[in-house]
Amino acid sequence: MSEGKLRVGVLVSGSGSNLQALIDACAAPDHPAEIVTVISNRPGVRALDRAKAAGIPAVVFDHKNYADRTSFDADMQKALDAAGVEFICLAGFMRLLTTAFVEHWSGRMINIHPSLLPSFKGLNVQQRAIDAGARFAGCTVHFVTPEMDVGPIIQQAVVPIHQDDTGDTLAARILVQEHRIYPACLKWVAEGRVRIEGERVFLDGANYPDAALHNPSSEPIG
Ligand code: GAR
Repeated sequence: MSEGKLRVGVLVSGSGSNLQALIDACAAPDHPAEIVTVISNRPGVRALDRAKAAGIPAVVFDHKNYADRTSFDADMQKALDAAGVEFICLAGFMRLLTTAFVEHWSGRMINIHPSLLPSFKGLNVQQRAIDAGARFAGCTVHFVTPEMDVGPIIQQAVVPIHQDDTGDTLAARILVQEHRIYPACLKWVAEGRVRIEGERVFLDGANYPDAALHNPSSEPIG
């Protein structure tokens, strides 16, 4: 255990490329956060291998073994408490959480979503953005509130939609940006620089005025 670091639990369901980006960022000795547990609702997913490779304890709660969301969330809560988790990152966690769980973690749980919220909530959002004729897509890191894919936005990154894009090619382009902004947001939170005011988030001490707007450039984030 590292003294003074924010103790983070990451919830996953799949490939875990965002988990990997968070692991890589937290590996820096002076990083203010530490991933202390990874929880998956699906057995056998690649995210679990990534946790193992990084030496992070990982737990599976297979949602198929649960009669309802309340008992599933209760088991997750116990595991998070046992690991001393102070803050949660949802990283491709594809399961709805109960209002009680979300309210317990209010202001202490963030999510990454592969669209420019509040547009395209839910599933299959990359293809839906293409089908809608949108010219830009992107990703959003936001605090989690009981309504799905709603909550104060910390940062967004924009990518173009090309004429020949498929859902997969667009998803890959967005993922590159996800892997940039998610670690940046976690770092800001762990540094205590993120302030929620109503529906809006402000970043204290940003080193340029549009730090929370990533469009995307090679500018350092922060
Ligand atoms: C990511 O694109 C993430 O934004 C998305 O699932 C993917 C997970 O990939 N999350 C959602 O759609 C949540 N609504 P990963 O497992 O490789 O990080």
